Amino acid sequence: MAKPKFYLTTPIYYANSRPHVGSAYTTLVCDTIARYKRMCGYDVAYLTGSDEHGENIQRAADKLGITPQELVERNCQIFRDLWKLLDIRYTHFIRTTALEHAGAVQKMLRRAQAAGHVYKGRYQGRYCIYDNLYVSDSVEPADCPTCGRPAELMSEENYFFRLSAFQQRLLDLYRERPEFVQPDFRRNEVISFVESGLKDISISRKAIKWGIPWPGDEEHVFYVWYDALTSYLTGIGFAENEQGSEEFRKYWPADLHMMGKEIIRFHGVYWPAFLMAANLPLPKTIFAHGWLLFEQQKMSKSKGNVAYCEPIVHVLGSEALRYYLLRDVVFGQDGNFSHAGLLTRYNSDLANGLGNLVNRTLTMIERYFDAKVPAPGPRTTGPEADPGNETRELFASQALSQIRDLYDRLAFSQVLERIWGQVAAVDKYLTAEKPWALAEDASKRERLATVLYDAAEAVRIIAILAHPVLPQAAKEIWQQLGQPGRLEDQRIDQVDWGQLRPGTRIGKPEAIFPRVDKEEAIERMEAMEQEIRQPSAPPAAAAAAQQAPSKITIDDFAKIEMRVGQVKSAERVTGADKLLKLMVDIGSEVRQLVAGVAEVYKPEDLIGRKVIVVTNLQPRKLRGVESNGMIVAATAPPDGKPVLAGFLEDVPVGARLK
Ligand code: MSP
Repeated sequence: MAKPKFYLTTPIYYANSRPHVGSAYTTLVCDTIARYKRMCGYDVAYLTGSDEHGENIQRAADKLGITPQELVERNCQIFRDLWKLLDIRYTHFIRTTALEHAGAVQKMLRRAQAAGHVYKGRYQGRYCIYDNLYVSDSVEPADCPTCGRPAELMSEENYFFRLSAFQQRLLDLYRERPEFVQPDFRRNEVISFVESGLKDISISRKAIKWGIPWPGDEEHVFYVWYDALTSYLTGIGFAENEQGSEEFRKYWPADLHMMGKEIIRFHGVYWPAFLMAANLPLPKTIFAHGWLLFEQQKMSKSKGNVAYCEPIVHVLGSEALRYYLLRDVVFGQDGNFSHAGLLTRYNSDLANGLGNLVNRTLTMIERYFDAKVPAPGPRTTGPEADPGNETRELFASQALSQIRDLYDRLAFSQVLERIWGQVAAVDKYLTAEKPWALAEDASKRERLATVLYDAAEAVRIIAILAHPVLPQAAKEIWQQLGQPGRLEDQRIDQVDWGQLRPGTRIGKPEAIFPRVDKEEAIERMEAMEQEIRQPSAPPAAAAAAQQAPSKITIDDFAKIEMRVGQVKSAERVTGADKLLKLMVDIGSEVRQLVAGVAEVYKPEDLIGRKVIVVTNLQPRKLRGVESNGMIVAATAPPDGKPVLAGFLEDVPVGARLK
């Protein structure tokens, strides 16, 4: 029997700058949904892509002195590399500069024109070129409600789409199909927007050239949202022939369009109207999630408060980020991102929680049962009940179907809470049963076998349940447990207790999530972040530097400015055991510095002390506190603790070292 299909999409990303953690969020979430649906037996099409037209792209390219095409090539590659790094398994990728996409957009327009929904008129109003949003129809100055930047005055002869004609049909749609816009509170927002009255919208632009040409009127290009939304059709073959490709006919309509809340209006109002005008079926559900906040605001390039994914993946692995975002943010609502929160989750839930449970279970099976899964002994009920029964309850089919139900409702934080509840219960069971003590007593061999079978079977089920969120780690667990076949081919809707075969030979137990030192990991990530934000050298110079001889010239050394400074005040940086915030007089000014010396020096001992400061380093932030320079210290063996450099003679503050 043919598998049921499931077509899901992320928004296509503006290719005007590199992605940050906020931009990766929708894609990570959709990857989890796609993997979950595949494990439920669906044939999944998962589309993502890049939005490459519009004024924001054109201006970003002009600023760099390159063509828009060069800019989008470069940025699109950065997106694709990141998706690979984060283990995103999309099946389709669409770029709006692809030739077939222009065909698809023009085809949509022809259909709308044929039905009489397009006319020529004059547009005058305020427009945000970054969010491609019509901010107001008046000429009065106005700020963009999404990014806060001033909207620009636009006054042009344009082609208009008769959106007003769809008001009633849209209201009927929201009423008849409550699942069309989700969550419910977003649907209510959309309904009140439409009820307040829909105006026709301009769908062409005259002033810009970087877009899809308007058929029959070369002076115009398409409005980017008409262009971008159509990519959901192009990506699966809409333009291939009049009815669309076979793939298009199989997957359309989309089952789920996922996006952040700021673009719900485009998806929940414009998009169904564009589709109705072209006489095409409507998607099943449009779901808007909340924002990731960083330092209390929406993480976004324009606000400058972004964290990047690459340093996180480098230091902790991609699964740490996937787990943290899905576990800590209640899906649908806004949630805070912080490196400290990420590290706490990593160490407690992944290293100490799951990682430790897998490792101790497998190590004991290796040691006590010659690396073969033991057969469990008989179970008892009633007053002499087997203490394992309570743990197994959490893995009974009813409990498992509740977890699936949470996945279906996209309640990821609750899914993970439940799975980690299972991890904690098995841990408790092992601690209570003490298999290491049972192993000392030959008469308890059967009990030992039961306990370790239970733990291993629990680990197997947890690997299946967690796979959509932690694809790599779950796969490693699967292999260490010696399981046949690919984990991704397991049916999450058919998993049941007792499917683990006694006698299975397990693989070599190895740590999946090694514990990390929180402070050190954060420092490493922040240093890498800084490098992404302000690369210390352009690529060519960096390459040359790598090949540079190990000796430097006196001129190289002269580039480093070091001065004698005197500490005026010192305090601990909240939440960081190793860091001190210092105000240091360097002669010409008093500088704020952050130094990793708190384990050795108390703040009060440093006041008045003379130190050596590198004064011409790029400023960087450590734990959110800006550091304008660096204090010179030796790293003393054996434990690498810092020892501040200083002078035996008295030296005046501000004196330069050379
Ligand atoms: N190009 C349009 C979408 C066109 S779809 C036909 C666009 N692109 S975007 O790059 O600005 O945003 C893409 C996605 O990233 C959106 O879902 C947006 O909500 C998401 N995010 C960007 N920053 C975000 C956060 N700080 N938090 C959560 N998601 C956010 O809009």
